[in-house]
Amino acid sequence: MAETPKIVLPDIPGLRNIDTYIAHGGYRDGLQKAYSMAPTAVTDEVKKSGLRGRGGAAFPTGLKWSFMPKGKEKKKYFLINGDESEPGSFKDRQIFEFNPHQMIEGILIGCYAMQIDHAYIYIRGEYAHWVRMVKRAVEEAYAKGFIGERMKETFKPSGEGVEFFTELTVHKGAGAYIVGEETAMLDSLEGKRGYPRFKPPFPANFGLWGQPTTVNNIETVANVPAIMKMGGEAFSKIGDAKHPGTILFGVSGHVNRPGIYELPSGTLLLDIINKHAGGVPNGKKIKMVIPGGSSMPPMRGDQLEGVMMDAEHLKAAGSAIGTAGIMVMDEDTDIIKVLTRIAKFYWHESCGQCTPCREGTGWLLKLLRRFEASQAMEGDIDLLYDVAKNIEGRTICALGEAAAWPVYFTIERFREDFEKRVKPGLKVESPNRVHGLRKGGLEPVQVHVPVVERT
Ligand SMILES: Cc1cc2nc3c(=O)[nH]c(=O)nc-3n(C[C@H](O)[C@H](O)[C@H](O)COP(=O)(O)O)c2cc1C
Ligand code: SF4
Repeated sequence: MAETPKIVLPDIPGLRNIDTYIAHGGYRDGLQKAYSMAPTAVTDEVKKSGLRGRGGAAFPTGLKWSFMPKGKEKKKYFLINGDESEPGSFKDRQIFEFNPHQMIEGILIGCYAMQIDHAYIYIRGEYAHWVRMVKRAVEEAYAKGFIGERMKETFKPSGEGVEFFTELTVHKGAGAYIVGEETAMLDSLEGKRGYPRFKPPFPANFGLWGQPTTVNNIETVANVPAIMKMGGEAFSKIGDAKHPGTILFGVSGHVNRPGIYELPSGTLLLDIINKHAGGVPNGKKIKMVIPGGSSMPPMRGDQLEGVMMDAEHLKAAGSAIGTAGIMVMDEDTDIIKVLTRIAKFYWHESCGQCTPCREGTGWLLKLLRRFEASQAMEGDIDLLYDVAKNIEGRTICALGEAAAWPVYFTIERFREDFEKRVKPGLKVESPNRVHGLRKGGLEPVQVHVPVVERT
């Protein structure tokens, strides 16, 4: 197997320890270089690198940084998204555990480039163990004078940012998937219930407490010190040209060696599954793969040949990179059961603001439960498809798509699995009777059991 660069999780024992990190050029090679440049030149370097966000949408990072209003007149914030709640995603916690200082260094570089003097790391509530680890790392960096007012003496930047310093706060969430959505995270951090906001205005103009805010994923910022160290151009040559760098691929499900594999973008999906993750146990065939976390379009096992794992190639192959959480399911998998479980998750996590999402996710779940119980009626496949299609594009945030995509793409790609669960002749007994009573009697209608068999 060819040697691959390890940018975010290098194989250096004890790297989480600040002294080990410093001994390997940490808080020096990337940060000091950034401080020798003008802040806008740092953003230009990140642009040149081609780095794209690793939080799901693969948005170009340098471009996002350039949206931040220049200067220091306004209070501005940098918010680092460590909510990591998408089923199938478990990469950010590897950074928290094995290389937290590189993430911190990346945040400091970002703060300097955008002239921000306060950054927050938001970590999901269930990650209590990793919250403690990150807090410890931040405290160590403060103690060394790498964060806070003492930065002015420690680094003495020679670019326009002389006198620059920034504070860094670690915030533990309360445990909700929806606060991973950037605007819901803003509300949550402000102490409110985490509801996604309408966009525009975008966070770059109206973010935390109404001030300009840039939101980036943990893995995204962890790439930045390496970009500064090797230069944007060198970084842009790693992996796929349109989505360069390495990606932390999280492989789970039916593989012999589940785990996180840092590989160049554009690596073949089947190579990740078979060579790196050890293939499918007992030599079974792959039935389905979800390549980017549970909200991304599932792919058939016979669709995977030649598929490359980067944003553009995956899009062309009919899916999306998302968080690069690859979920593998073998030929014996009951994919209706899998889909029902996924639908339950999005139904449970819907914040309830938009009707298509609040109601639609519940309808998806009810319909899927009929299929799961082999009690689906003729027409239910089209109904399910229709419900999913009517959620898409009609909601405030992308949780609507997250719920709809797995469902309608699975119908498109595995229709035969749904057809097998349809019971011919089955019809619905409408519960919609006056006052919920059956005619001629006082027996209440069982609304939650909408299917009865007619002979
Ligand atoms: C429902 C929902 C959940 C999300 N959850 C996360 C998450 O856990 N972590 C994350 O980084 N981005 C998440 N995102 C994407 C963020 O809104 C945002 O685009 C991202 O943090 C930007 O960082 P990046 O540009 O570095 O990728 C989520 C988006 C949606 C719609
Ligand atoms: S799409 Fe769903 S989760 Fe997003 S704002 Fe609307 S109701 Fe809330």
